[in-house]
Amino acid sequence: MPFIKVENLVHKFFERNNEGEIIDEKNALDGVDFQIEAGQFIAILGRNGSGKSTLARHLNCLLFPHEGSIWIDGNEVKEEDDINIWNNRKNIGMVFQNPDNQIIGTTVEEDTAFGPENLEFSTEKIRDRVDNALKMTGMYKKMNVSPNSLSGGQKQRVAIAGTLAMHPKCIVLDEATAMLDPDGRKELISTVHRLNKEEGITIILITHFMNEAVDADRIFVMDNGMVTMMGTPKEVFSRSDEIKNLGLEMPVMMNVAIRLKNDGYEIPVDVFTIEKLADVYEQLYRKHLNGE
Ligand SMILES: Nc1ncnc2c1ncn2[C@@H]1O[C@H](COP(=O)(O)OP(=O)(O)OP(=O)(O)O)[C@@H](O)[C@H]1O
Ligand SMILES: [Mg+2]
Repeated sequence: MPFIKVENLVHKFFERNNEGEIIDEKNALDGVDFQIEAGQFIAILGRNGSGKSTLARHLNCLLFPHEGSIWIDGNEVKEEDDINIWNNRKNIGMVFQNPDNQIIGTTVEEDTAFGPENLEFSTEKIRDRVDNALKMTGMYKKMNVSPNSLSGGQKQRVAIAGTLAMHPKCIVLDEATAMLDPDGRKELISTVHRLNKEEGITIILITHFMNEAVDADRIFVMDNGMVTMMGTPKEVFSRSDEIKNLGLEMPVMMNVAIRLKNDGYEIPVDVFTIEKLADVYEQLYRKHLNGE
């Protein structure tokens, strides 16, 4: 059994009149199917309104299926099963877009301890979990400062620490880098990759930044409440016309690579980073010098 299995998931939003009668309905999710193995890094892309956040809220049991099913860690999610829902919420940590909305504590330490304190662990166990979570996110030295004094990227790392202290098996980040500056984005993405590689935490990263998706194991592209493309970054971004039709940009470096290829140069299509492009240029230049 995969860690997450979603089958024909449908979610409807209803519009009601003043009498409370339903006058319109819209399928925000319209038959979503996928499976995610434990330890994978998944990026979810898709234009505004395609259903990404609605899907994320299903994974955290904040919403429940109108049709179809979700299994998390072998258990089917059922709205009436409180224990199951509680376990899922512990297992799947969520980090949202606005860092300021996620701060609860007056110090970084207090903020991180909020989850385990609610689980009524012993003081010692809370201490241990908080220390570890802050170390894993590189925020240990800041434990006594006020979260308000931190940069956006640091605040998001504290938000991640708060979910880590619950020992989740998976973290879902819903546009968690959207409000950060480029440095903050880089630092958050590298923290998330480290947690994935070193701690084996499954990551589901929803983003509008293509460059944040290029190192994922797999990419899901959503459109109109459905997952319309699924594959490795190389597979997905090789279909550049479809990507553009789905309202997405291509990763910048790959655009350069595709232009070079169209001009007749022999270069690979999965050039996602400036480092890789520099390598490719160097090889082309050497060939040129050798008269090839
Ligand atoms: N609370 C709600 N009530 C009614 N309709 C909603 C509600 N939340 C979302 N929707 C609709 O459901 C669809 C999917 O929305 P969702 O927020 O999941 O998209 P998204 O892919 O996360 O978009 P974005 O990239 O803008 O965050 C949209 O058409 C949206 O207008
Ligand atoms: Mg959204």
